Amino acid sequence: MKKTDYYPIDFKEDFFVFLDQTKLPFEEVYVKTDDYNKIAEAIERLEVRGAPQIGVSAAYALALAFKNNNSNSSNIFETAYNRLAKTRPTAVNLFWALNEVKKIFEEKKDSENIYKLLLDKAIEIHKDDIIKCDKIGQNGLRIFHKKSNVLTHCNTGKLATAGDGTAFNVIRQGYLNNLVSFVYADETRPLLQGSRLTAFELEKSGIPFSLQSDSTAAVLMQKKMVDLVVVGADRIALNGDTANKIGTYSLAVLCNFHEIPFYISAPTTTIDKTILTGEDIEIELRSKFELLKLNNINVSVDEYEAFTPAFDVTPSHLISGIITEKDVYTFPYNFLNE
Ligand code: MRU
Repeated sequence: MKKTDYYPIDFKEDFFVFLDQTKLPFEEVYVKTDDYNKIAEAIERLEVRGAPQIGVSAAYALALAFKNNNSNSSNIFETAYNRLAKTRPTAVNLFWALNEVKKIFEEKKDSENIYKLLLDKAIEIHKDDIIKCDKIGQNGLRIFHKKSNVLTHCNTGKLATAGDGTAFNVIRQGYLNNLVSFVYADETRPLLQGSRLTAFELEKSGIPFSLQSDSTAAVLMQKKMVDLVVVGADRIALNGDTANKIGTYSLAVLCNFHEIPFYISAPTTTIDKTILTGEDIEIELRSKFELLKLNNINVSVDEYEAFTPAFDVTPSHLISGIITEKDVYTFPYNFLNE
């Protein structure tokens, strides 16, 4: 694979452009659209994904609802807002970004060029995420006390944000600063964000890595092959309880047992200040066919029932530190004033 660059989301000449992540790592297919419904569908299908990237994409989509509409009626806004808000329930960045755009709409809804004003807000949210990713990468350097072998889960790189990533950027900065020697990437069942997307990004970044099935993480730890674990987050409660890709909680428990540091990394836009603990986080349930099929080929019987939560919640006492663009926080967490 060539080490050329890739741009998972972009906004060019009044069109939203995204890399269809369901086709990775085999094909790099870019889709161009100015239809907010198409962006909503792309978020639902995980063509566009990762909490910060979902937020930025939804902000552009909400602005685009007004591109071909001179009217600035509240009806258009509400319809588009509600459509986008029901795409994915757990990633709080989605609701944060939609509400940031909503504030502008409520202030300026009578202005002539509402599209331009909403678009400016979406661009600001986009740029802000790039800066936050950079700072997370820098702050994350503090978790390395020696040259380390790192294990990660799901995908938290450019493919999950608008910038260089969260946990992935911590790993990348660690590698650039000679503090990371090797990455173990969990495959991440059932949609394989690890083996398809993190592997793609690690290869593009020139970082040495290997893949393992999620259940192999325990063996790597038992054999003392992992120095620390760092993963992302989809929603963090005020007390630090964290929802992230299914399989994260088991990693945290394993780290606790093997006395390996376990870190979460996310922008502060992933903190939900309306909830005290992880018990209040709505967990997205995906279609059972995502487990029963692989690339549309059945690996089990369609009629079987399956339990398919997309995320789990890791209790904060299992988290060694939470890396944000502001700081590296440690237990006990209280994000009320952050
Ligand atoms: O279902 P996905 O692929 O959107 O889930 C993504 C994750 O769980 C990531 O770890 C999380 O969104 C953090 S992305 C910087």
